[in-house]
Amino acid sequence: MTIFVLNGPNLNLLGQREPDIYGSATLEQIETMCRERAGELGHEVDFRQSNDEGKLVDWIQQARTEAQGIVINPAALGHYSIAIRDAIAACDVPVVEVHISNIWAREEFRQTSVISAVVVGVISGLGTWGYVGAIEALAGILKDR
Ligand code: DQA
Repeated sequence: MTIFVLNGPNLNLLGQREPDIYGSATLEQIETMCRERAGELGHEVDFRQSNDEGKLVDWIQQARTEAQGIVINPAALGHYSIAIRDAIAACDVPVVEVHISNIWAREEFRQTSVISAVVVGVISGLGTWGYVGAIEALAGILKDR
């Protein structure tokens, strides 16, 4: 079973970008963590990042037929992209929203996510462990189905 792990704008810069907020792990290291944990749980990970909203919409649509679950860190798009929200709402597979930082403890404009109401759950503020927790939760949800 395949889990898509989708990452939005500027997450390609993890490791260099505001390390006091996002930590020192690179996106490549997060990919390894996800792949290893998913593998232990019997799942494959298809890990992607884009700075382009349309590409993320295409990938969410692709997941409807090619994945059993999605972990998404929408980055800034989570705060305003109705297109991403609509794509998730049209997708039958379970989606978990992840933010490395605690968005509710940051600037007011980050404290709203337009996608949270259409995902199964949100992990925010647990650093890169949030991705691993999301994989574990999805594996459990898929097992229960
Ligand atoms: C983020 C939080 C967003 O507000 C921000 O725009 C990001 C990363 C996080 O992982 O904490 O790019 O999604």
